[in-house]
Amino acid sequence: MMRKIISLNQNWKFYQNDQYSQIDLPHTWNAVDGQDGGNDYFRGSCRYVRELERPDMEAGNRVFLEVKGAAMSAQVYLNDKKLTEHQGGYSAFRVELTGYLQEKNELCITVDNSDNDTVYPQKADFTFYGGLYRDVNLIVVPKEHFDLSYCGAPGIRVTPVVNLAEKSAVVTVETWQTGTGEVTVTVDGKSRSVTPENGHARAVFEIADVHLWDGIKDPYLYTASASLASGDEISARFGCRAYTIDAQKGFLLNGRSYPLRGVSRHQDWKGAGNALTMEHHRKDMEIVRELGANTLRLAHYQHAQEFYDLCDENGIIVWAEIPYITMHMKNGRENTLSQMEELIAQCYNHPSIAVWGLSNEITAASAVNEDLLENHKLLQELCRRMDATRPTTMANVFMLETESPILDIPDVNSYNLYFGWYLGELEQNDEFFDDYHRKYPDRPIGFSEYGADANPQYQSSQPEKGDYTESYQALYHEHMLEMIEKRPWLWAAHVWNLFDFAADGRDEGGKHGENQKGLVTFDRKTKKDAFYLYKAAWNPEPMVHVCGGRYVERAEEVTEIKVYSNAEEVSLYVDGELFEKQKAHRVFRFSVPISGEHTIEAKAAGQSDTIKIRRVEQPNPAYVFVKKQDVVNWFDQDEFDPECYSVSDTLADLRANPEAGAIVNRMMEKGAASRGDVAEAVKDNPGLQRMMGRMTLISLLKQAGDIDEESIKQLNRVLQKIRKN
Ligand code: GCU
Repeated sequence: MMRKIISLNQNWKFYQNDQYSQIDLPHTWNAVDGQDGGNDYFRGSCRYVRELERPDMEAGNRVFLEVKGAAMSAQVYLNDKKLTEHQGGYSAFRVELTGYLQEKNELCITVDNSDNDTVYPQKADFTFYGGLYRDVNLIVVPKEHFDLSYCGAPGIRVTPVVNLAEKSAVVTVETWQTGTGEVTVTVDGKSRSVTPENGHARAVFEIADVHLWDGIKDPYLYTASASLASGDEISARFGCRAYTIDAQKGFLLNGRSYPLRGVSRHQDWKGAGNALTMEHHRKDMEIVRELGANTLRLAHYQHAQEFYDLCDENGIIVWAEIPYITMHMKNGRENTLSQMEELIAQCYNHPSIAVWGLSNEITAASAVNEDLLENHKLLQELCRRMDATRPTTMANVFMLETESPILDIPDVNSYNLYFGWYLGELEQNDEFFDDYHRKYPDRPIGFSEYGADANPQYQSSQPEKGDYTESYQALYHEHMLEMIEKRPWLWAAHVWNLFDFAADGRDEGGKHGENQKGLVTFDRKTKKDAFYLYKAAWNPEPMVHVCGGRYVERAEEVTEIKVYSNAEEVSLYVDGELFEKQKAHRVFRFSVPISGEHTIEAKAAGQSDTIKIRRVEQPNPAYVFVKKQDVVNWFDQDEFDPECYSVSDTLADLRANPEAGAIVNRMMEKGAASRGDVAEAVKDNPGLQRMMGRMTLISLLKQAGDIDEESIKQLNRVLQKIRKN
């Protein structure tokens, strides 16, 4: 008999504390409180309870429970008997129910997202939603069936190896099963019967004149299927492609230069949390395709199988990773290994996945000590053992000095840089990578994160770093896009992020609980101007976009009208009259005198886009984000003496004064004692010193994240006693 997959998504009783409600899966208990800011969202243990009738079964059948996602830890009980538990909120797991099933049963799954020191993630810039937020199924199989017990894996593994010169592929299909029966394996219409050894069967196929999986252009998928005499049958789609990452040439797909240029995605939506349906996934992929990205970094954890499937079908090349993030936990080693083993076991067949990410900014709040290095070496060995076909990578925090031994562990490296947003100037991004590439010509380097927050409500004619305006975000990305295009040796570049997402600890930019670096808002309803810059660069469809559509009221006589287009020439019409034709590359800037209400239309390549603006006398205050000044945070405004030093001065300025400099160095040394990375890093890295020099002391302290408010106020009071020369 063919295996039966029975959905158990319906009719659950959800117990939080003593209250219960009737719910269906997928479900998260933080869909609202995990998104409205303030880290007071519910983190704890809840229970999901459901009646379960024994399914129709033939003699010898086996029954498994499959949980596709329980965040962050789960325990499974059947009729009050604990059957299993699982640590990790992003991978599937299964447990056999056969011997415990009665006619009528009570299934209870307790789920826990409390903080702890063993299960990642524990410290990161995103909300750790709790819940049974993906499907739960019952799987009924014949006695002889393909394995369901190893790491939630599919029981079939397909390894295509392409010979580009001969346009052929060798495809190895492996299956794991109970029993000793012959396996029939079929690929590309050819079948083979294989005798398993110890439950493991292996069949090798040659595909001549292979149809390549060729990225967005032609993501051709084959199917490998396997069947047993018992009737159990499984299949997996696969793609024949060759990935190469070269230090000088960057990323190659099937032998040709194919720089990975795209975005990152978190798996949550406004109002739904991480309990996504297929419609949410489809909508996200639709937006990725409109943008024209050829790659996605699916951060910071294993995403739903449905979404990797969509990447396979759409030719999007993926960076997959586990949530080994921000802060290393000495009791978390086992969990990093089990999350990585499950990620690879469950996702190995996806042709879209090109690299496995070991960690993200793991030295941001931890020293590079032996335990952290050993953890990474074990992950590297695990990845190498489980998958000889894909390289590993890791996303490093900007402060990590480039000589760090940790950079020797993954196969390729990447850095997250936020110059021009959190600190420093835009050009420092260029400098950092040019320094790195000059220093390490044989080391591939990627740009795993860059971005700037933007609330579409905020607009400005004089945009500047930190103002949270849509205008500045567009300006920021104009520089970044150009910088990246000039460096094809960057094997990948991923905008952080495609969508705004929930970050419970944030309360800034006029929104609670959101990281607003998205090119698109959290509800997917608004594409910010910067989205159209990348669309103009990556999507070949003729397009034209007039920026500033939300900047309606303009308190100036002449205003800049900026247009993004992939056409060579744009015609701008003001109130129906041709104002100016302009030839440019992608970014077109017009200076338009305004006096009243105006309709501004841009036409190019048969496309057009229109906005309406009006001249006003006074700037609209609603366009300006009033930021709680860091300075004000640390003491009252009237006490602040701008003639004296404070934590809001840059390291360079503070160090220019011997007394203030001594205080900062002492603080850095003390910091080094506790963390040993930042000060170490600064000490012997001129590039980093130059960059850190531009950081204000307060932003450095915030990045380091481990100094309390009182200490900062104390430090500030001391600095305020030192008059600036
Ligand atoms: C870090 C981190 C992200 C975070 C981002 C930001 O690089 O990897 O998880 O959201 O910076 O500060 O926006």
